[in-house]
Amino acid sequence: MTTHDRGARANSPVRRRQTGSALTQQFSDYLRARRSEIEQALAHALPAPPQCPPVLATAMNYSLSAGGKRLRPVLCLAAADAVGPHRSFAMPAACALELIHTYSLIHDDLPAMDNDSLRRGRPTLHVVAGDGMAILAGDGLLTEAFALLARVPATAGEEIRLRHLRVISVIADAAGSMGMVGGQAIDLSCTNPDPSGQRAAPLDAEGLRLMHGRKTGALIRASAVAGAIMGGGADSTISSIDAAAAEFGLAFQIVDDILDVEGVSTELGKTPGKDAASGKPTYPALYGLAKARQMAADCLERAETDLRSAGLADSWLMEIGRWIVHRSS
Ligand code: IPE
Ligand code: IPE
Ligand code: MG
Ligand code: MG
Ligand code: MG
Repeated sequence: MTTHDRGARANSPVRRRQTGSALTQQFSDYLRARRSEIEQALAHALPAPPQCPPVLATAMNYSLSAGGKRLRPVLCLAAADAVGPHRSFAMPAACALELIHTYSLIHDDLPAMDNDSLRRGRPTLHVVAGDGMAILAGDGLLTEAFALLARVPATAGEEIRLRHLRVISVIADAAGSMGMVGGQAIDLSCTNPDPSGQRAAPLDAEGLRLMHGRKTGALIRASAVAGAIMGGGADSTISSIDAAAAEFGLAFQIVDDILDVEGVSTELGKTPGKDAASGKPTYPALYGLAKARQMAADCLERAETDLRSAGLADSWLMEIGRWIVHRSS
């Protein structure tokens, strides 16, 4: 454990655990505080007119300002908190991850993909701005994310520059063809027939786990890893956080699949029941709801073991894992 790692204990919810029911309140205070910082930073994350054409700025902001849980940036900041006292170093990465996630939602909802008309409680971007503008807004958000990551302050020393470079590489791998885009391609090829009417063979258990790990898990993993890198964590601590976040990522998509069956539109801000209607490969479809729920809980247990090995079982990271599994939106 580094000096930073030890210093970070002041930020941990360890006291929360000793006071029983006050614990949940403490986590919701932490969540509220981080979200507020994130909203402030996101408000300045995108170029505005006249640098950016007003029509594109409006489209990008429509989806970004609609809210959402902000899970990925919160996870990024919590990972920085877990390893040291420099949470603010992780804010550019936190914002970049939310820009990339928002782009992935815009493209995921397109008629050529999941064809959804409700997102974050609003009509989807392609419904209000057209498919072409929605594609471009996604392209813009993705590109701006990397512009943000590359904007290292002029006063930054060599160590911080190296952290930025490492984070750019981690996030690019997670967002790209080996990660989220790759997972979405598998999802698409299993669900939507290609122009000749062909569809990929149904996924087995391992195939489904790997697809979820890519399409959703990769960016969630990268969120925690990027925060731990920017916060100055030791390599061994970053590895444990990475392993725990991989479990969080799988749990997140299992719960997303469950909520598509059991959730309500007003809470979700999106339309439930779409997965079964379009024959998506999901955990409830393959295992049933009860087993799927158990599998999400198992992920949480494995994550706790990973975090414990780094002395972080009492960090906010574990609280985020519980939130992922027990959420209703
Ligand atoms: C939805 O992500 C898409 C998936 C990866 C399952 P979130 O549930 O985090 O969406 P927001 O950001 O809260 O809207
Ligand atoms: C989407 O998974 C994962 C992404 C990379 C956006 P889903 O298609 O299940 O996400 P929702 O249910 O539309 O939010
Ligand atoms: Mg999808
Ligand atoms: Mg979808
Ligand atoms: Mg879903």
